Amino acid sequence: MPRSIIVGSGKSIPPICVTNDMLSRVMDTTDAWIQERSGVQTRYYVEKGTSTADLGAQAAAEALANASVDKDEVDLLISATMTPDHYFPGNGGLIQKRLGMKPVASFDIRQQCAGFLYAMQLADAHVRAGLAKTVLVVGHEVHTGFMPYSENSWACLYGQSEKVTEAEWEWNNRFRHLVVLFGDAGAAVVVKATDDERRGVVDSLLRTDGTDFDKLYVPGTGFRHRPYTDPAQFERGDHVPVMDGRHVFKMATTRMIEASQQVLARNGVKPEELKLVLMHQANKRINEYCAKQLGLREEQVLHNIERYGNTTAATIPLLWDEAARAGRIAPGDPILMVAFGAGMNWGATLLRA
Ligand code: COA
Repeated sequence: MPRSIIVGSGKSIPPICVTNDMLSRVMDTTDAWIQERSGVQTRYYVEKGTSTADLGAQAAAEALANASVDKDEVDLLISATMTPDHYFPGNGGLIQKRLGMKPVASFDIRQQCAGFLYAMQLADAHVRAGLAKTVLVVGHEVHTGFMPYSENSWACLYGQSEKVTEAEWEWNNRFRHLVVLFGDAGAAVVVKATDDERRGVVDSLLRTDGTDFDKLYVPGTGFRHRPYTDPAQFERGDHVPVMDGRHVFKMATTRMIEASQQVLARNGVKPEELKLVLMHQANKRINEYCAKQLGLREEQVLHNIERYGNTTAATIPLLWDEAARAGRIAPGDPILMVAFGAGMNWGATLLRA
């Protein structure tokens, strides 16, 4: 049975670097609070008009070039995002069109912060079943569409306006625990079939449990409503995600540790044998806690949340791309990927690079 290996990667980081101090122009927050609670120092925002598919296509093109794979070799495209350009269709076809690819099979999946792991499982299953030989997997998000700011708040954030009104300040504060964490980005990997049994995806453990879905979700703009969006939802702020941060923090640490231990144990791999652990970047404190409980050494765990914030489906391929380009991943290296996100969806994937 063929195995799947990552043969190249790419990323797309938008141009606007936003510091914590810039956010404190429009809401009651500080650089010290954000860094201490989450580890985030900066995040990148797209210019208005740039879409998730734009970032995804750019990252995908870079990944294909990095892998020296022609776009017409791709026989499956998987797009993971919770912030697609349109309600429908999904971004798969938009990326295929932007890259000028021939028609391919494609999946549009969500699974939020666990999206990339679900996408990798889908890619691996297709490769093992002989249904695909070259898979393009894209994790991409533009979170700035969720940001609840008025035009004046945006101008103030960028230093183009003096200050926000009292009402704008209050409104922005309502979402301060959420918006400070997120940034925009795209990242992609090219997965290829190999007969080399020492390499490839070894095992994936994926789980979904909707019991606590309302601890992290978007209450408005869905088909529970008729029409699915209206001005009243917008005025209530129902288009912005609701997040119970403490609850999500506890669930993330519990599930990420559990999934990691289970997938390692059932494959006879000890945490200390892993070359790298690529954890979803939602909060540096979540990852430091997980690393400690798993008994990992500092150099095994990569972080880049300081620079990018939480980029949802893009975090793990972004970490992969940076590690690969820094020469930190060699063929055959045992690597664990682990993520937890809204849904709730979580999982852990063990592979040999
Ligand atoms: N700046 C300043 N103060 C803030 C703030 C901000 N951006 N956001 C919230 N606060 C305040 C709260 O209002 C609260 O004030 P109070 O004590 O006067 O009531 C205080 O800080 C503590 O809030 P709390 O929510 O308990 O903080 P926390 O330590 O749990 O950190 C998160 C908040 C959101 C950073 C943290 O809970 C978290 O990261 N959770 C997981 C989120 C996540 O992973 N989401 C994505 C899942 S994929």
